[in-house]
Amino acid sequence: MRHFPLLSLFLTSTLLTASPLSEEQMVTKGSEASALLLQKLGGELKNQMQTNGSMGALHFCSQNALTLTEQIAKESKTSIKRISINNRNPVNKANKDEIALLNEWDKLVKNGQPLPAQKLVKVSDSTIMYYKPIVINNEACLKCHGNVEGALAKAIHTTYPEDKATGYKMGDLRGMIAITIKRD
Ligand code: HEC
Repeated sequence: MRHFPLLSLFLTSTLLTASPLSEEQMVTKGSEASALLLQKLGGELKNQMQTNGSMGALHFCSQNALTLTEQIAKESKTSIKRISINNRNPVNKANKDEIALLNEWDKLVKNGQPLPAQKLVKVSDSTIMYYKPIVINNEACLKCHGNVEGALAKAIHTTYPEDKATGYKMGDLRGMIAITIKRD
């Protein structure tokens, strides 16, 4: 067999350089990262509520929700935010475009229409935004986002003096996950 040193060099270098993602792979990345985030946060929340009660879970959320989100973003090489118009944590506040999308979805919910599982926006050839609605789908959410009273309400107000994230009911749109995905 003849040898083609240049060809083999070429093959090795293309195999070693990760090829840019296709659009479909970018979408898969978004849905995987958002599913993982919901699963992790939901799991930890449940665990904390059971072992340490609402107050312990509140403490856990305020200390760890962002760190957990960052961790999943890093692992999936994306950038992930949890956004709300009625945000609790000031860093999760929606910007103008995000407010428009959330209002559109809120209207659907109020009219009893189904929400899309996700929305994709192509920002450029190399970047897409992946948005996923977050709905109050569990009575447990209402402990801290419903009509919160007493010591828990006080603790929330102490940590988040400008909290807007109460008064929700089951089925309400709470916010969304926004993931920036780059092609390479
Ligand atoms: C034990 C209290 C507690 C429970 C229960 C709880 N949350 Fe939260 N939530 C918080 C705290 C504290 C924050 C602010 C810290 C952070 O996550 O950045 C927050 C923030 C959020 C945010 C980010 C936007 C914002 O307002 O800052 C979303 C979205 C959210 N919660 C959805 C939910 C959903 C959905 C459930 C039910 C599955 C739920 N939460 C249950 C305490 C709670």
